[in-house]
Amino acid sequence: MTVDTTATSVSGINIKSSQNRLLIKNGRVVNDDGMEDADVYIEDGIIKQVGRNLIIPGGTRTIDATGKLVMPGGIDPHTHFELEMMGAKTVDDFYKGTRAAVAGGTTTIIDFVLPQKGQSLIEAYNNWRQKADGKVCCDYALHVGVTWWSPSVKKEMEQLTSEQYGVNSFKMFMAYKDVWMMNDYDLCCAMETCADLKALAQVHAENGSIIARNCEKLLAAGVRGPDAHQLSRDEELEAEAVNRACVIANQAKSPLYVVHVMSKSAVQALQIARTRQKLPVYGETLAATVGTDGTHYKNSCFRHAAAHVLSPPLRPDPSTPQAIAEALADDHLQLIGSDNCTFHEKDKELGKDDFTKIPNGVNGVEDRMAILWQKAVNTGVMDPCRFVAVTSSNAARIFNLWPQKGRVEAGSDADVVVWDPRLQRTISAATHHHGVDFNIFEGQDVVGSPQYVIVNGRVCLDDGELRVAEGYGKFLKTPVNSPYVYGAPPAAAPEPEPVSPAIHTPSRVTNGNTPSP
Ligand code: URP
Ligand code: ZN
Ligand code: ZN
Ligand code: ZN
Repeated sequence: MTVDTTATSVSGINIKSSQNRLLIKNGRVVNDDGMEDADVYIEDGIIKQVGRNLIIPGGTRTIDATGKLVMPGGIDPHTHFELEMMGAKTVDDFYKGTRAAVAGGTTTIIDFVLPQKGQSLIEAYNNWRQKADGKVCCDYALHVGVTWWSPSVKKEMEQLTSEQYGVNSFKMFMAYKDVWMMNDYDLCCAMETCADLKALAQVHAENGSIIARNCEKLLAAGVRGPDAHQLSRDEELEAEAVNRACVIANQAKSPLYVVHVMSKSAVQALQIARTRQKLPVYGETLAATVGTDGTHYKNSCFRHAAAHVLSPPLRPDPSTPQAIAEALADDHLQLIGSDNCTFHEKDKELGKDDFTKIPNGVNGVEDRMAILWQKAVNTGVMDPCRFVAVTSSNAARIFNLWPQKGRVEAGSDADVVVWDPRLQRTISAATHHHGVDFNIFEGQDVVGSPQYVIVNGRVCLDDGELRVAEGYGKFLKTPVNSPYVYGAPPAAAPEPEPVSPAIHTPSRVTNGNTPSP
């Protein structure tokens, strides 16, 4: 176990905090359903009181949050730490990745266990737990990929949803032909199984067969550079797969979660599908989509262009980021993740002469919140409550971590961000906390970033100084039958201490509980 800076010594006895009592005073508490001026008192990793004129024991550390927002820690529902794919391994492991997460205000991540075709899902799950448990600086949960189909896979899905393993979501791929891709029959079986188990089916929605054919044609024509990546998989192929996934989910009577929605066409397909779906459909987009665009693929520097390669790709249409931010604000999309999947330059160079060999993935876990704040809150597209909904609360609800996570309220875990809406910084690989040597948001100025980040009661970003502890985070079991997804009445929230009335109920805010008709 190690600590990132010299500031806190970790004996293994009191890793949690130099003090287990903390008062955040004079801030404005923001939840997804309203804001209020209130103090937050934390003890032993739990929020104990939210309100004014609190009676606090002596020896409590006080953080002055005057002029700051006090929000639930971010939940990034989509990361790939220490993932081996396309002949390379992601640079951000569970230590560097969660360190970067915490630096940016994210206090829970959900990573993907991705078994190879033919591999036991439980074996892969155990590998992931082994990689993560000793390294995570914040709490984490796991989705499991279903990359092939057989009766044994079905059985293992059932086992994984038990209390022993604590998995409630499974990702199926409609792309990465011959690697992770499933055909429609298998997809339907997997979704039916998710519905039976009251787990959540997730899809990577792109038409992998047509992409494979397009790649063959481009390579045959001598088109080999990074720009061909997006030429081989345009918006239409994303929108078609989104529509097909929705049709299959409807047939399978399964709720559906579409990961990394990257285009206006895909958002439109989701909206059209919602009018016929009998069960909810959720859409997640990425910091990359809101924060940058596909014009970078045309950069003559291979490193630069290849660094932006992910799937589905960034779109060349420069109006995409704004449209996606608006879709998040209007509840056409419900969450923003990062799909953090970082590769060094030497790994991206595997595709120097053949774009199909460029390892897919970008950074985002650190800058996700600041990018969205800059592009959507500072521009008036969404208010702070909706920001909390899409960066934290909706993920907690969907993955059944609510109200333990995603809420600043008495009884919830003390994962809290003190957000300074005036803090200015320039994003750069020179100062970020990732292991990787490139940042797709390089040079972007953002106003608004965390000043303090509290993880389970421990101050891990302390007035801008990062003090994470390796291995401090814990695995979160996510129970099936999320009331938010499967419609049962939500569990009673803990009774909050009396507080001053919420004085702001923003018009555009919705937590997106029901799909739009
Ligand atoms: O390019 C991406 N998205 N890399 C990670 C794997 C995936 O499809 O999420
Ligand atoms: Zn994917
Ligand atoms: Zn460059
Ligand atoms: Zn991913």
